[in-house]
Amino acid sequence: MTVSSETYTFGVLTLSDKGSRGEREDTSGPLLCEMLCREGYVQIDYAVIPDRHDLIVGTLRDWADERGIDLILTTGGTGVAPSDVTPEATSEVVERQIPGIAEAMRHASLQKTPNAMLSRGIAGIRGNSLIINLPGSRKAARENIEVVLPALRHALYKIKGGSRDCGAG
Ligand code: MTE
Repeated sequence: MTVSSETYTFGVLTLSDKGSRGEREDTSGPLLCEMLCREGYVQIDYAVIPDRHDLIVGTLRDWADERGIDLILTTGGTGVAPSDVTPEATSEVVERQIPGIAEAMRHASLQKTPNAMLSRGIAGIRGNSLIINLPGSRKAARENIEVVLPALRHALYKIKGGSRDCGAG
């Protein structure tokens, strides 16, 4: 079996106080859904919730444990504003971090804007799910997911216990 023949599911969770109150249209979440669908991933859920630690933890646990979603992307709340709590909530949920994903995103993003150093997003594994924090703006979400996409299928394959050699394609 090759990696490319496998189908993986995903969910997109947008963290935004204004978005959750309907005061700001979320354009980042739908863009991520569109990009992942175009790559052949199957969308299971999309939600907009406020920047609340307990709600983020609860949703991530539910999507990973109860619904078994392979890939969970969050967008927003990774910065340095007092309301930005996505990395802390995600840290509480993941069992193993994958620092290289966040490092790669920040490295590539710094070529675009110095403000990239302000994103504190992390990536990690809970059970069979991969959780990745992306920044909140549409531009930032797109630029960051583009960095990860080339390694995503292999990451998901390995997380689910795939034993094919890493050099095999
Ligand atoms: N990364 C990329 N590639 N492009 C961007 O425009 N914006 C930055 C940063 N990362 C940006 C980026 C900005 S302005 C902020 S404040 C942080 O992400 C955190 O964003 P967040 O709080 O919306 O998650």
